[in-house]
Amino acid sequence: MKESIEKIFKELEELKAASQKEAEEARIRFLGKKGEITALMDQFRSIAPELKREYGQKLNELKKAAMARIEELKACVGEAEASTAPKEDLSMPGDAFPLGSRHPVSIVRQQIVDIFRKFGYDVAEGPEIEDDYHVFEALNFPPNHPAREMQDTFFVSTGHVNPLLLRTHTSSVQVRTMESQSLPIRVSCPGRVFRNEAISARAHCIFHQVEGLYIDKNVTFADLKQAILLFAREMFGADSQIRMRPSYFPFTEPSAEVDVSCNICKGKGCNICKGTGWLEIMGCGMVDPNVLKASGIDPQQYSGFAFGMGIERIAMLKWQVNDLRHYFENDMRFLSEFSTATEV
Ligand code: PHE
Repeated sequence: MKESIEKIFKELEELKAASQKEAEEARIRFLGKKGEITALMDQFRSIAPELKREYGQKLNELKKAAMARIEELKACVGEAEASTAPKEDLSMPGDAFPLGSRHPVSIVRQQIVDIFRKFGYDVAEGPEIEDDYHVFEALNFPPNHPAREMQDTFFVSTGHVNPLLLRTHTSSVQVRTMESQSLPIRVSCPGRVFRNEAISARAHCIFHQVEGLYIDKNVTFADLKQAILLFAREMFGADSQIRMRPSYFPFTEPSAEVDVSCNICKGKGCNICKGTGWLEIMGCGMVDPNVLKASGIDPQQYSGFAFGMGIERIAMLKWQVNDLRHYFENDMRFLSEFSTATEV
């Protein structure tokens, strides 16, 4: 009997089960009605009384050990079975995680800023709620200029000398830069601007601009032309041409509007350029001496040029999305079109 008990102890130690079924079979084998331990219990009844104490204890230990071991095995295979159960098909393709993408306006803004950064322009930013001085007065707008009317500009406060308003262009950032930075100055000023316009496919009360300013000794109109030409070639392709048409802005003299050769029809004329072969991209000019003076720069010593363009306008030319409203509605169907459009 002693040997049988030891043998079973040993077997219990080495006992393995790969499934619940095997663990249950082991239980039946040792503890079932006809099990090995049950049989030993039966034998125990007929052993000599003086041995009963010793064997009784041993058998009890064996039974407990067997029960504990089988419980343990059942718990282990339980876990293993749960984790290997074929609930998931690992060969199935995963669920796509919806990744956002940059807004087309952000893509173009970054591109414009990057091009000017290559030419040595820092980025300057300023407040969207500005005062009359930085948006108009310092930029040589006469007191009765139409832009200062309520129907053109959103005023935040009125009735005093320097009312607060939503900036109508980022030229205000150029004024702040002239006030605070030492010369020479070379900055691009990206940002959101506001005009009191009825919303339509071609106009919006909010849009985005990148303006630029360069002030140094001996800056000429030829430098301006060259800067714009290089920009146009980086932005619209190496064979782009530009042309300038005389224009008027209170803060530049002379002023010009810039057209780039249509990159769709290569200047032959198509419906994007309305048959002209040219697309208008920006306004520009030589900084008016009055503007330099207002910010404490001596126009006898320094000169400069400025330019400004609408980001949505450039994006429209790039992707032929000709309704401005799309850029503001955040319709996912529209935005997801640009998920791979990080490069021109
Ligand atoms: N500030 C002008 C606008 O908003 C653009 C511009 C900037 C024109 C600099 C000339 C020079 O329309």
